[in-house]
Amino acid sequence: MLSTSSVIGVIGAGAMGAGIAQVAATAGHAVVLFDTNAAQLDKAKTDLAATLGKLTEKGKLTAETAQQIQSRFTYATTLEAFAPCALIIEAIVERLDVKQDVFGKLESIVSESCMIASNTSSLSITLIASACKNPERVLGIHFFNPAPLMPLVEIIPGVATSEALLLTAKATIDNWGKTTVLTKDTPGFIVNRVARSYYGESIRIYEEGMADFATIDYALKTAGGFRMGPFELMDFIGNDINYKVTETVWEQFFYEPRFKPSFTQKRLYEAKRFGRKTGRGYYDYSPGAVMPEPNKDEALAQQILNRVLAMLINEAADAFYLGIASRDDLDTAMTKGVNYPKGLLKWADEIGIANVLATLENLYSEYGEDRYRPCVLLKRMAKENNTFY
Ligand SMILES: NC(=O)c1ccc[n+]([C@@H]2O[C@H](COP(=O)([O-])OP(=O)(O)OC[C@H]3O[C@@H](n4cnc5c(N)ncnc54)[C@H](O)[C@@H]3O)[C@@H](O)[C@H]2O)c1
Repeated sequence: MLSTSSVIGVIGAGAMGAGIAQVAATAGHAVVLFDTNAAQLDKAKTDLAATLGKLTEKGKLTAETAQQIQSRFTYATTLEAFAPCALIIEAIVERLDVKQDVFGKLESIVSESCMIASNTSSLSITLIASACKNPERVLGIHFFNPAPLMPLVEIIPGVATSEALLLTAKATIDNWGKTTVLTKDTPGFIVNRVARSYYGESIRIYEEGMADFATIDYALKTAGGFRMGPFELMDFIGNDINYKVTETVWEQFFYEPRFKPSFTQKRLYEAKRFGRKTGRGYYDYSPGAVMPEPNKDEALAQQILNRVLAMLINEAADAFYLGIASRDDLDTAMTKGVNYPKGLLKWADEIGIANVLATLENLYSEYGEDRYRPCVLLKRMAKENNTFY
């Protein structure tokens, strides 16, 4: 684990970079924050002062601590400022060429032992690392938005990442008060892979005319205990972002049918109905607009929940079967990264593996579509009467 005397570098002072820098400085590190856009650096500085001011007002920080956190920051305008850093986390624009260029340049500035991490949501860590002379020092450290509030951080080794470095990075982020999970370098890592069915299957249910948005949201919240329904959540995240993640995951999985995007969301994206931020998405947020009433039929709610949940569990089981992450890390990722009411593998045990499998097999035999094929692990477990826990 890095001690607080180690300097942390953050590249990119946007939504994620500014938040990650705040986390590191709050943990006691000196932080170098860099952005090519000077206005963005100024904004990060002003926003940090405002955030710490609010925390002080609420009594969560003393004025002295807030002052100390701010004094740990160096706002840099050249990459050379990263020379003293022990760990650098990159959170710039999601473009492989730009990231590779920055990683390549950084290597000639930093010490031999400096760890360089990417906060990328969708690019391969191995591919980013391939731009470096020493790819062993490169890894993924994936925070969730907003970084100071979301507890989960996914830690991702690339093909060449050194084991010792990986453990040091993980222990460091744990020491910052975050919950880390280890995951393989595969598209969407854990959360953005496993959560896809929450959106995809819900949209499918809507497209088939089984229920409208409000009813599906109602079903998942009341029967399932999810904090937000899929449609209100997509409107909250932004249909631009959510659609792009879906499309990227699908493409990177070599067009796996389980991840196939929908025309419903693609058209919303094309119409710039991004959700809350544009005033319209699945729902209308304009002043005076009335939210549609759900159908509160309990049997329908249960049917919707069973279908979406079976798809989510199938995805989690598949990720477990393929060694993408451990059982505990898979469940932790979904409860801490996207606030699911329970870990999906634990939930599978509660429902009964045979029941989950029966839902999937019914869908598979009725539709004949590959997206509904059950994970072989669920089949074996049901046959042997096994549980995940
Ligand atoms: N926003 C999210 O919810 C979220 C969550 C997890 C991970 N991520 C990932 O984090 C990264 C950043 O996302 P964001 O939402 O903070 O983006 P953002 O657009 O808010 O910020 C990106 C910042 O990087 C700066 N920048 C661009 N090119 C640069 C360069 N070459 N050198 C230095 N600075 C440069 C930009 O000026 C901007 O300030 C992306 O890789 C994204 O996939 C985003």
